[in-house]
Amino acid sequence: MISIDELTTFLEHFTLPHSSHLADGAQISFFDVSHARFVTRRENVFVNGKEYPMFVNEFWTSRQRQAARLHEVAYRACFKPQLPRFFINLFSQPGDVIYDPFAGRGTTIIEAGLMGRNIIANDVNPLSKILSQPRFFIPSIPDLVVRLGKIPIIANQSAEIDLSMFYHPATEAEIISLKSYLQNRHAAGTEDDLDRWIRMVATNRLTGHSSGFFSVYTLPPNQATSPARQRKINARRNQIPEYRDTRKLILKKSKQLIKDLTPRQIRNLRAAGKHALFLSRDARHTPEIPTGTVQLTITSPPFLNVVQYAKDNWLRCWFNGINSEKVARVITVARTLDKWRRVMEDVFRELYRITRSGGWVAFEVGEIHRGQVELEKVVIPLGIAANFHCFGVVVNRQQFTKTANIWGIDNNRKGTNSNRIVLFHK
Ligand SMILES: C[S@@+](CC[C@H](N)C(=O)[O-])C[C@H]1O[C@@H](n2cnc3c(N)ncnc32)[C@H](O)[C@@H]1O
Repeated sequence: MISIDELTTFLEHFTLPHSSHLADGAQISFFDVSHARFVTRRENVFVNGKEYPMFVNEFWTSRQRQAARLHEVAYRACFKPQLPRFFINLFSQPGDVIYDPFAGRGTTIIEAGLMGRNIIANDVNPLSKILSQPRFFIPSIPDLVVRLGKIPIIANQSAEIDLSMFYHPATEAEIISLKSYLQNRHAAGTEDDLDRWIRMVATNRLTGHSSGFFSVYTLPPNQATSPARQRKINARRNQIPEYRDTRKLILKKSKQLIKDLTPRQIRNLRAAGKHALFLSRDARHTPEIPTGTVQLTITSPPFLNVVQYAKDNWLRCWFNGINSEKVARVITVARTLDKWRRVMEDVFRELYRITRSGGWVAFEVGEIHRGQVELEKVVIPLGIAANFHCFGVVVNRQQFTKTANIWGIDNNRKGTNSNRIVLFHK
C-alpha cells in the first residue's frame, strides 16, 4: 500500500503514463517519466490555521485508453471513469472493497468491478441500482435476442398518462408491454439477470436526441422534459413522433455497451456483482455496511441545489414504477452551504465507521459558482471532525476539453475541465 511520502512524491513528479500502463488490473508505475506533459503545480490550502497541500496537474485525461463503453449510460452530473480508475489504482488491490455512497449511474463501482475489486453501492434514488447492478452481469447476445422475442407485445394500449408528445402510438404500446412484463416478472419473483439488463437498457433509451432512442427528438436522456415543454419542442421543430422498434434499439445499445469488454473484465464484473451490496439509503445511515470493511470510497456528492435528480428522471421513474415525488423528498437538495455541511458532516461520520484502518476516501468537490465557493475548505474540516486525516487536494486540470457546463457547476472554464478531489485516510 502506498505511503504518504510515496504519494506526495508520486503526485509531485507525476507524468501521464502511456495508455499501455493502464491495461485492466495494471498498477500505475510510480515515477514513470515516459510521457511528460505538464509539471505538477503545488499550492497550499489554508483551513483553520493549518496548511494542506494541493496538487494541480493533468492526472487523467480522455486521451488515455478509452474508458469501457459499459459506462455509457447517461446520468446527471456523473464523473468520467478515468477519475475513479486513478484512485483505485493508487489506493487499492484486487479484492479490496470500493464504495460509493452517492453512486448515481455507478461510475465508481463499475470501474472497480472491471478492475477486479469488490464493491458496495448506495444511492437514495432506486434508479441508481436499476442502472448499475445489471451491468455486472453481462448477457450473451443470442440469449438476449431470444428473451426480447418472448416478451409479449400488446398493441393498441396507451399509458395512464399522456405520452403522445414523446412516442408514436405503436412505440408507446411496446413500452407499456415491456413495462408490464418487467413488473410481472418482478412481482412473481422470476425476474432474472437478462430481465434486469433489458430494464436497464430500456430505461436508458426512453428519451433522447437521436433515432437511437424510443422518443421523438427531445432533451438528452438524463433530463426528461415535461410534457408541456415537449409539445413546444415538437411545434418548434415541426415534428411528430415516428415509430421506433424498441426491441431493435435495446439490442443495438446492448451490443454497444459490451462490445469492447475482455473475457477477464466480464469475469471480474460477475465476481464483484455476486458479492456486491446495493443499497438505496440516505448515505448518512447505512447499517448494512459492516464497520471497518471499506478500503476506498470514491464519490461525488449532490452539490447544493443545482441538480434536480428526481425531476429530471420522472419518465425513468414512471417506467420503473418508482414514485418520483417520494424520491424527491429524500434526495439531499441543500439550499444553503450550511445545510449541505450538516448533511455531509453525518456522511463523513458514517464513512469513518465503515472505512478500514489504512483506508482512503476520495471526495470530489465541484467548482461551485465559478470557483467562488471553495468547497474543499468546507469539506476538509468535516473529514477531520469525523477523525480522518486529510492528505490534501488533488486537482485534475484537463486542457482543451469541450464539455458542457453542468448545471451551475462550472466545469469548463477557459478551455479547462477541472475535478477537485479531497483525499482523506484513516
Ligand atoms: C453527483 S451525483 C453522483 C454521480 C456519480 N458519481 C456518477 O458518476 O454517476 C449525486 C447522487 O447522490 C444521490 N443522492 C442525493 N442525496 C442523497 C443522500 N442523502 N443519500 C444518498 N444518495 C443521495 C443522487 O440521487 C445522485 O445520484
